[in-house]
Amino acid sequence: RAMAILQELEEKCATPIGKLKQVADAMTVEMHAGLASEGGSKLKMLITYVDNLPTGNEEGLFYALDLGGTNFRVLRVQLGGKDGRVLNQEFTEVSIPTNLMVGTAEELFDYIAAEVAKFVANEGQDFQVPLGRQRELGFTFSFPVMQTSIASGNLIKWTKGFSIDDAVGHDVVAELTKAIERKGLDMRVTALVNDTVGTLAGGRYTQKDVVAAVILGTGTNAAYVEHAQAIPKWHGLMPKSGEMVINMEWGNFRSSHLPLTEYDLALDAASLNPGDQIFEKLISGMYLGEIVRRVLLKMADEACLFGDTIPPKLKHQFILRTPDMSAMHHDTSANLQVVGNTLKNVLEISDTSLEVRKVVVQLCNVVATRGARLAAAGILGILKKLGRDTLVDGENQKSVIAMDGGLYEHYAEYSKCVENTLSLLLGDEVSETICIEQTNDGSGIGAALLAASNSQYLN
Ligand code: BG6
Ligand code: GLC
Repeated sequence: RAMAILQELEEKCATPIGKLKQVADAMTVEMHAGLASEGGSKLKMLITYVDNLPTGNEEGLFYALDLGGTNFRVLRVQLGGKDGRVLNQEFTEVSIPTNLMVGTAEELFDYIAAEVAKFVANEGQDFQVPLGRQRELGFTFSFPVMQTSIASGNLIKWTKGFSIDDAVGHDVVAELTKAIERKGLDMRVTALVNDTVGTLAGGRYTQKDVVAAVILGTGTNAAYVEHAQAIPKWHGLMPKSGEMVINMEWGNFRSSHLPLTEYDLALDAASLNPGDQIFEKLISGMYLGEIVRRVLLKMADEACLFGDTIPPKLKHQFILRTPDMSAMHHDTSANLQVVGNTLKNVLEISDTSLEVRKVVVQLCNVVATRGARLAAAGILGILKKLGRDTLVDGENQKSVIAMDGGLYEHYAEYSKCVENTLSLLLGDEVSETICIEQTNDGSGIGAALLAASNSQYLN
């Protein structure tokens, strides 16, 4: 019976190349619609006010905050002023207490400001901003924001594990600035960026061929460089560069071509944001382990996979995390010891047979493979929009995708699958011109770089 459930799941999760191409095409269509008008698509295609990417000449001492991934980070970066050199970089990292993720705006921003104050209090004499100058900060805020300038913007909605009602619709920079002032710090936010935009900027700093950035972490999203003229909904001045970075918020993509199962629908219904972020719920780190848990629960219930009773822990939402799933998926020991231990330690299911463990590994594979292949289809959608999915006049125009996020970094089967699938979709010739480059905390440096290029002290 458990095998039957697994088989049915595998059929429903299937992502043959034809389907992935349909998903990519749908992504491209929605990109156009989202650029055409506000509310024109589930893809918000947000205007970021970043119309100049780093050149490598940025100089000075800048701070960055990074909120929205697994960890909250404060950074200080000394930029060298030529050849894309970072002279010095320091950071601290903490995880945001879960109660603050669903509390009030003031509590969250006070917590953040307190961490910034601690960081500043501990800094040495060697790296300080010149006397008489304000400290300047790039704020990476990894949620959908309707920006009103490079350094202001209103939160559209929360995603991932956050849900703080009184912040929605408000300017997050104003909230942060108030909290910083309450701590008595003299600091000014000069750039507000999404993590995808920070990653794009950080990538471009060292590599001019970076055209897009993708995050595969707790959540998932992408940003890319668009021709300003190709954004009908943009009524502002035409930027000198002729370019504008777009934060797609692709996590909210939805299409009839997506292979949704009963487990996905149930997960969505029980989530903090039902009906939203459907693509993200199929692909990203916050949800993959939870999908696996839901299937295991069904197998326990209907096929007595773990004996006559349902193991109580298996009923807890989000108890099985994606890193646990990844560990099980990568288990190469003959008796699948890691699977056995994980089931025991996380779910309190002991004495599992090798047969049962094999089912679990296959299940992880089905869920991860679907997510990774869909992520590759999303990337193809962007390349299509950019006209980089084919060779132009036989030319090899190189395109680099800057990639960040814990899922891609730590889940090897997943990242391998993203890359292989993208190659399959593009074909040998084109895929040689496309390269996914993993960056690590490019987003923090990117935010500092954008804080630098938007500094009040530039003439
Ligand atoms: C980090 C970026 O490297 O990746 C963050 O600096 C981003 O801004 C994060 O949110 C995403 O990864 P995760 O896995 O922590 O959600
Ligand atoms: C979620 C957020 C988005 C962010 C992504 C990756 O999808 O809405 O802004 O970029 O997670 O962190």
